[in-house]
Amino acid sequence: MNNIVLIGFMGSGKTTFGRWVSRRHNRKFYDTDEYIEKKQNTTISEIFATKGEEAFRDMETETVKELSDTLDNCVISVGGGLVLREVNRELLRKLGTVVYLKASEEELCKRLSKDTKRPLLQGGGLHEKIHNLMEQREDIYLDAADMIVDTQKMSFEQMYTAIIKNMED
Ligand code: S3P
Repeated sequence: MNNIVLIGFMGSGKTTFGRWVSRRHNRKFYDTDEYIEKKQNTTISEIFATKGEEAFRDMETETVKELSDTLDNCVISVGGGLVLREVNRELLRKLGTVVYLKASEEELCKRLSKDTKRPLLQGGGLHEKIHNLMEQREDIYLDAADMIVDTQKMSFEQMYTAIIKNMED
């Protein structure tokens, strides 16, 4: 336990912030996408293309099950769609404090405009895609989270301080 679990939309900075916490505050870092890519020895795009989204979602569930058995004092960044399954949300709650990293659709659109690695966002109409997915997901992110952090208003150090304070309360 005592883990920090980062959830939120693609481009919200989960991996970047998670890595920063890991370096700066000496916690071991896990990223569910990287975990899956290593285990499957291929990329997320390739998994979506060859096996489909449902197979990828199964891999995500398997991953949180594996991680929830072992981790302590770590920071864990999870793929933007991992919280869609209730079973995953329950496992995340058991893992530690779940933090929703929030950013506006406009900001996400800016950050993701050159992305080529996220299969759900390819093929044009980025803003509409983000808007539609966000509409389906925002309530789920809010429901899954123990706390919300606005990534556009705070520095990484301020975000970390707020998270630790919440964990201690
Ligand atoms: C996805 C988010 C991605 C990755 C996959 C699907 C999603 O992770 O798991 O492309 O459904 O939101 P990031 O949130 O780290 O980009």
